[in-house]
Amino acid sequence: MNYQIALLKGDGIGPEIVESAVSVLETIGQKYGHSFAFTDYLIGGAAIDRTGQPLPQETVDGCLRSDSVLLGAVGGPKWDSRPAELRPEKALLGIRAALGLYTNLRPAKIYPALRDASPLRPEITGKGVDLLIVRELTGGIYFGERGCREGKFGEEAFDTECYSVYEIERIGRAAFAAAKKRRGRVTSIDKANVLETSRLWRRTMHRLAAEYPDIAYSDLLVDNAAMQLVRDPAQFDVIVTSNMFGDILSDEASQITGSIGMLPSASLGDGTRGMYEPIHGSAPDIAGQNRANPIATVLSAAMLLRYSLGLSAEADAIEAAVGSVLDAGYRTADLLGQMPGEPLSCTEMTAKLLSKL
Ligand code: IPM
Ligand code: MG
Repeated sequence: MNYQIALLKGDGIGPEIVESAVSVLETIGQKYGHSFAFTDYLIGGAAIDRTGQPLPQETVDGCLRSDSVLLGAVGGPKWDSRPAELRPEKALLGIRAALGLYTNLRPAKIYPALRDASPLRPEITGKGVDLLIVRELTGGIYFGERGCREGKFGEEAFDTECYSVYEIERIGRAAFAAAKKRRGRVTSIDKANVLETSRLWRRTMHRLAAEYPDIAYSDLLVDNAAMQLVRDPAQFDVIVTSNMFGDILSDEASQITGSIGMLPSASLGDGTRGMYEPIHGSAPDIAGQNRANPIATVLSAAMLLRYSLGLSAEADAIEAAVGSVLDAGYRTADLLGQMPGEPLSCTEMTAKLLSKL
């Protein structure tokens, strides 16, 4: 088969890590008899510099013509002082909405070889952490009415959260479907003791849960959830939550694994086209130095194969290669931290991964 993949390399370390994932996909293609046609499109700061816009229409159109999309990272200090509408981050929200990618899957798991990298004590991580955050991605406060105005105390600003039953149901179904293929547990996280949107969220999730009797369902308030994630992360299988709570909790969950440089993500809609990206940012401090850890992007490419192209054996092969490279003791600088040893560069790590394929 021939697949069209749009590459949105973006800013900072984006180009380096996407190149790494492209070489992994090319090797997979040779081994399994697929061909991938990669096309670059501009996004984020790189797009601002070339076109004045963080998300040119050509990029949206190119993604819509592709089978799937692989994204590096966007943003950096160079563009931080721009108004909200013209910041690189706006492009990320824009492309999620334009492609209808309302389901964001963020798996967080501890690799046995990296257990020491977790800031949590071994008694806690020893129980094994393997959870999946299902974050709503095109609604809530990220996309609600907002503005600035004169208020009682002078200048004020506001953002609003709105969720429809329709939006809650479709993300809920995505979570229940994911749990069926995993360990059969769903925890819905909200702030139903305070927020009206959360009360609707909870009622809707309860109604859905009744349709999935084989899934063990529970709900948790977001403040308690933040605490439970560090107290006993092994209790979680699938977590489903709103756009903003998911943003916050997924950073917390990633840190539990000790290595934000390891975690991939998938953003999906109703069809098979998705957008796949590492959950870490553009790391401008190490950009262009060949020091970035490419694994999160490589694992994102594995998710692309699995979810958009239905190539699970190929995805398994990439995930196994990552496991064996780590078991063999190879580490990029972020994984080494304070530990002794020579870190591998981004290209060296990529070469190790290719050799395991
Ligand atoms: C993420 C990021 C983005 C978000 C920012 C960069 C807009 O933090 O993907 O988690 O908040 O969704
Ligand atoms: Mg975030």
